[in-house]
This record gives sequence, C-alpha cells and structure tokens, in this order.
Amino acid sequence: MTDLKFHRHRRLRQNATLRRMVRETILTADDFIYPVFAIEGENIKTEIPSMPGVYQFSLDRLVEEMAEVVDLGIPSVMIFGIPSEKDAVGTQAYHTHGIVQEATRVVKEHFPELMVIADTCLCEYTDHGHCGIVRDGDVVNDESLELLVKTAVSQVEAGADVIAPSNMMDGFVAAIRKGLDEAGYENIPIMSYAVKYASAFYGPFRDAADSTPQFGDRKTYQMDPANRLEALREAESDVEEGADFLMVKPGLSYLDVLRDLKNQFNLPLVTYNVSGEYAMVKAASQNGWIDEKAIVLELLTSMKRAGADLILTYHAKDAAKWLKEA
Ligand code: PBG
Repeated sequence: MTDLKFHRHRRLRQNATLRRMVRETILTADDFIYPVFAIEGENIKTEIPSMPGVYQFSLDRLVEEMAEVVDLGIPSVMIFGIPSEKDAVGTQAYHTHGIVQEATRVVKEHFPELMVIADTCLCEYTDHGHCGIVRDGDVVNDESLELLVKTAVSQVEAGADVIAPSNMMDGFVAAIRKGLDEAGYENIPIMSYAVKYASAFYGPFRDAADSTPQFGDRKTYQMDPANRLEALREAESDVEEGADFLMVKPGLSYLDVLRDLKNQFNLPLVTYNVSGEYAMVKAASQNGWIDEKAIVLELLTSMKRAGADLILTYHAKDAAKWLKEA
C-alpha cells in the first residue's frame, strides 16, 4: 500500500466542522420566493388536494399566511389569482379590482417590506385556459401582448414590486418594458419566465389555479423539454429586451439548462420548483418512503448549486423553518 499514489479527499470530510468550512453552497431563507394563491370570497382557506400544505386563501385569510412568511424571514411572495369570473379575453387579469390586484393591495398594506412579485399571465382568467387571445385554435401573439401589458400596468398600480411575465409570447419583455416605462414605472424590474417548458410537472398547479387549457396544449408557446439551445436563444432575446431576472421553469428536470444560463448571462437567475415536483415529494413523504426534510433541503441546495440565485418554491416555509433549526 505504501507506494500507492492517490488523493485523500476524505481528509476534508472528517468531521462536521470541517465539512461546514468547505461547504460551497449555503441555502438561506433569502433565496426563497413563496408562491401563494388568492381566491375571491370570504373566510376561505382551502387545501389543494394534490399539493398538501398549500392553500387557496381569500383576502381576509391571506394576511395571517403572509405574517408567517415574514416571520420566517422569506423576503418575497409571488401571487396567483383565482377569479370568480372568466371570459375569452381574461378581463379579470387586468381589472383594477381583480383578485391579484386586490391581494397585492392587502399584502403591501400590511407588509410594505415584503416584495410582491406578480405573475403576469392570462391563463387563470380566460375561459379557454390559454395564456392569450385564441383565434383559429391558436394563441395570437401580438394582440395577446397588449393584454399582457395592461395586466402588468394594473398590477404595478396595485403595488406589485416586480412583474413576472409567464405567458411565453414572443416579445413579452420588450412590450412590458415599454408599457411600464410609458406609465412611469421605469424602476419596476421584470423577472422573465425566459425559459418555460411545456411540462407535465404543472399538473397540480392547474388544479389549484383552475387553469387547465380547455382544448389543445401549450406547445406552440411553451418550450419542448428536449431543447437546450433553444433555451439559450429565448434567454438571449429576453436579455436584449430588458429583462432584469431570468427564470428557468421547472427546476428539477432542467438543472443543466439552469447551469447553461448561469454560465452565459450575468443576470440574477431564478428557478421555479413547480407544483408537480412538490407533489411528488409530498406524496412520497406522506407514505413514509422518504425523509421529507432531508430531501427538500437537498433538492433546494442542488438548484442553488446548479446556478439559481432565487428559488420559487412551495417548500419555502418548511425549508425556512428547518434552516432556522439547523
Ligand atoms: C402560467 C403558469 C404556470 C405555472 C405558473 N404560472 C403553468 C402553466 O399552466 O403553464 C405553473 C407553476 C407550477 O406548476 O407550480 N401562468
């Protein structure tokens, strides 16, 4: 054995203190954005069956949830709205008193420091469930942009701090940047869902937000999961158009893409640990098949290691609690 030459990598793993000293990725509550669902009505806190631990809240119940988020040190939330009325052009998405606008007002009134990110899309508000105006069975790009801009401006008027457009129309960042600037909101950042795949992992969210397309799918606007170079082209366009953050969605199956973007662009990078990823972890944990805490912290750490500066995750509250205990 004495003449064998090799490296002793285990030297740096000998004990917890050494491991702590050489740890490269540190997860903190600052990394999290917590997604919340606001629904019209009163005294509602309804658990989403496929997302245990995640609820739809009426505005009067939303405040207690936000207080918890703030107490845990989570700096930011993303608000999704479930309107009581839908129509072909998603009127409630850009209505002054739409559910997201009202939820934003309530949250900012109680917690001015909490960053409210608005998901800017139409699918929760259209009766057909697509992310824009539908003609001849497909979503028309440029006209849908106009509605998206109206939505963004109304969200900012209600107090949203950041606009996160997610409908994957071409030119959505350029259109929203121009619209916000013209309305005097040049300081509102755009967090672009730059790389959003047509993913089966959104299933539980569509139950939660009641936004499943009534016909067809989203494959003419969301990306093919098989493509990597296309992700770089999408991101490049959004950088040119003025995005302030780039997002890759979903997270878990797309860590390679996240790393590609991190290596290529200098903007803060976000990933969305989506509903289906959450549901899988929850289901296995509830069956006692996996150790939920260990799995969640490992997953979130891997996203950060892959390049995410921020992680949108339904696990945010639990993870923040566990990190405090550690
Ligand atoms: C679209 C949107 C979707 C999600 C958030 N915003 C997906 C979609 O149905 O295309 C999914 C998030 C999740 O699965 O957690 N506005």
